[in-house]
Amino acid sequence: MKRKIVRFPSPLLRKKAKAIKRVTPEIRKLANDMMETMHAVPGVGLAGPQVGELLRLIVADIGAGEIILANPKLVNKKGKREYVEGCLSLPGVEAPVTRADCVVVKGLDLDNQPVEIAAEGLMATVLQHEIDHLDGFVFIDRVEDPSTIKHVAANKEPKETLI
Ligand code: NI
Repeated sequence: MKRKIVRFPSPLLRKKAKAIKRVTPEIRKLANDMMETMHAVPGVGLAGPQVGELLRLIVADIGAGEIILANPKLVNKKGKREYVEGCLSLPGVEAPVTRADCVVVKGLDLDNQPVEIAAEGLMATVLQHEIDHLDGFVFIDRVEDPSTIKHVAANKEPKETLI
């Protein structure tokens, strides 16, 4: 079921999301709803608070397979990469953000099994952007020079920038 996407500046996007103690059927349903919601726009990443659920759950798909992670935690990062980001919660806004180029993220899969994902490039950007959502940050908080924030037609944004 498609969910309504919470838009900036909703206070929900500024809260710290809660850890998931155990992945239940309800959490699996939420993850599936989030994936459906993300694909419908389309975008490449979505976090729990963006559908109004303050839980540490993220979904992503940059075209190389669907990723669902509960309690994602950045455990290693290196390098730098600048990428023009947008966000499903900030339609029509984009700006360059510098983040780590390579990351290792640990979390739980939907079977409650620990997983570790090593990612680089766009996937690394997406994972860092989504984990930020779980901690109450949006991408414009990470922009170094506010004059680089651009407003674009919301329906002209490339899918790969809607994170
Ligand atoms: Ni976002």
